[in-house]
Amino acid sequence: MKVLVSGGAGLIGRHTVRLLLAHGQSVVVLDDLRLGKYDELPAGDGLEFRQGSVTDRATVSAALRDVDAVIHLAAPSSFLMYEQDVVGATIGTTASFVILLEEMRRAGIGKLVYASTSAVYESNPVPYREGMPLSPLDMKALSKKWGEEAAQYYSDRYGIRAVGLRPFSVYGVGESAKAGYANIVTLFVWAMTNGYRPVVWGDGLQTRDYLYAADMAEALWLALCSDLPSQCFNAGTGIETSFIEVIATINEELGSSLEPLHVEVPSGIYARRLVADTTRQRDVLGFTPRISLREGIRRLIAEARSFADRGTDLGVHQHFFERLAADKTLHR
Ligand SMILES: NC(=O)c1ccc[n+]([C@@H]2O[C@H](COP(=O)([O-])OP(=O)(O)OC[C@H]3O[C@@H](n4cnc5c(N)ncnc54)[C@H](O)[C@@H]3O)[C@@H](O)[C@H]2O)c1
Repeated sequence: MKVLVSGGAGLIGRHTVRLLLAHGQSVVVLDDLRLGKYDELPAGDGLEFRQGSVTDRATVSAALRDVDAVIHLAAPSSFLMYEQDVVGATIGTTASFVILLEEMRRAGIGKLVYASTSAVYESNPVPYREGMPLSPLDMKALSKKWGEEAAQYYSDRYGIRAVGLRPFSVYGVGESAKAGYANIVTLFVWAMTNGYRPVVWGDGLQTRDYLYAADMAEALWLALCSDLPSQCFNAGTGIETSFIEVIATINEELGSSLEPLHVEVPSGIYARRLVADTTRQRDVLGFTPRISLREGIRRLIAEARSFADRGTDLGVHQHFFERLAADKTLHR
């Protein structure tokens, strides 16, 4: 099978490309490299790289040539990108999705797996469960919800089988290109490995459900291989962990005792608790994450130390959060 992975040079993308190649698939990566890293793509026969934007119709059409299935990941990946450029980020999510669906229809490609977001559940109580009513509270989540609806429309009308995943908080080795937009676990590890106190918005009792990127890639692979009808699944662990608990685990692994530096929460739309109900992802998709948060943290520490050995201090990226806290245009 030949699979187009849009956003394949990003965090989830690279873990996914590696898995597809390991399963003997041919892969085309389409990425404009705004946050992706070409030189961190796995080497190997069967991988073709195309630099270009999913918002450009001719580029998408050319990338789909001889492709059997698509994994669509290219989009602005942090809600902060929507806060900072709402028009560009919304176009990058919605226009690109309809271009992709339409060009898939024209090319006769009938299988799509795509990344939505757990933020579509925002106004619901936790744990978040597929089937809950969706009334998202921010433009990232609204754009992703629209994508789910567009995918269902192309499924109903043209028979494109589209499985969406709603990732919770995905982190992992390979986020250096994301800089200040990296996952909060990654930013804490980068900071603390380099001796900085971790910057925390608010009291640090906010919780997330952290999924290692290789596990996310496994969920995408299972969705690609399945014959399931079009629908969406959670992609999470079902484990809720506060920022304070993450920092405690990093301190244990580093043998340090760095205290969090608490700053004001800069955005009014900032979730207090996020955690997945994993029943359907396990029972219907067959997906169970394997990598614990502690193991993921160990891998991130090893990566941060190897950057430090080469003279790169990844810890400086958390200053982005301190600057945002002072940016009153983000306060509601
Ligand atoms: N990481 C998470 O916690 C998380 C959570 C929910 C949803 N998601 C979704 O999963 C997907 C992948 O996330 P990620 O964490 O790997 O992010 P990432 O930023 O590491 O990867 C996204 C990739 O897409 C590329 N890209 C962005 N816009 C593009 C465009 N217009 N044309 C071509 N390439 C473009 C970037 O260069 C990057 O390589 C995104 O759609 C994101 O919204 C991620």
